[in-house]
Amino acid sequence: MKKTILTGDRPTGPLHLGHYVGSLKNRVELQHTHETFVLIADLQALTDHADHPDQVRRNILEVAFDYLAVGIDPSVSTIVVQSGVPELAELTMYYLNLVTLARLQRNPTVKDEMRQKGFDTDVPVGFFVYPVSQAADITAFKAHLVPVGEDQLPMIEQSVEIVRRFNRTYAPVLVEPTALVSTIARLPGTDGQSKMGKSLANAIFLSDSVDVVAQKVMGMYTDPKHVRADDPGAVEGNPVFSYLDAFDPDAASVEDLKRRYRVGGLGDVTVKRHLIEVLESFLTPIRSRREELRRAPEQIIRILREGTERGRAVAHETLRDVRHAMHLDCC
Ligand code: TRP
Repeated sequence: MKKTILTGDRPTGPLHLGHYVGSLKNRVELQHTHETFVLIADLQALTDHADHPDQVRRNILEVAFDYLAVGIDPSVSTIVVQSGVPELAELTMYYLNLVTLARLQRNPTVKDEMRQKGFDTDVPVGFFVYPVSQAADITAFKAHLVPVGEDQLPMIEQSVEIVRRFNRTYAPVLVEPTALVSTIARLPGTDGQSKMGKSLANAIFLSDSVDVVAQKVMGMYTDPKHVRADDPGAVEGNPVFSYLDAFDPDAASVEDLKRRYRVGGLGDVTVKRHLIEVLESFLTPIRSRREELRRAPEQIIRILREGTERGRAVAHETLRDVRHAMHLDCC
């Protein structure tokens, strides 16, 4: 039997190159050999966007456009909208009893995000417990594999703990998930910060226009000590080269550029121009598929409706087993 994959994204904005490298690419490759569910996590998006339901709703479609444009194929992958599967909220409620406050406080990703969002003192409880709802997402679909970016590893770790505790306490009905991190787990931001993030103003989006991509690349952080083209430059910690590693199919030519940059004599502008070309050959087909999809939103809505229905049927079955294991089916 095929193994099951589940991953997802919060619809808080369009997806960027970091999403592609960290997770989308893996999903597209694995969808033919695995039963694949892709979750548009609108309930999770509300945990830090409670005041902007309109924004979350709008971005469900943007994320769906991105999925289909990069090659997630709805005839083999099931795209599910989280709020259409209330079983996930129910399962979250059950799992909350299996997790301690101290354990949640130790989750490094939640800690980082709380700091980033300025939630240090006033964190919404829904946001604080989102790792638990994510465990519900993963286990409701009985997922074996979860392709995610490196920042999501603590979520999978917590899911595994919840599964073990549940199976030990009630009955062995849940599947232990394994994270699948891509070879390039984390794409730095255009500013050289360690992570590309929607809200960090350092992202190149899959939907950015040619001009915007060029402008973002030209403004990218490089080695600050590489002032003149003749100066020797550093490749490590230089996001321009990280992007070439991730997107230039010609690895030998990237190695050659790195060598020339290190010894001196290769200017930033030259490397950036090359990066623009590389990114354009990757983004052009995605952009045109996206434009086509934009013209047929009814078709996308139908795909989402059908996927959500299929997803709900699977979650419903899991919940039947869960309720039975928890002695919640007396009448
Ligand atoms: N937390 C993920 C993110 O911010 C989104 C997500 C929600 C997810 N549910 C999931 C990822 C289940 C993997 C599995 O990107």
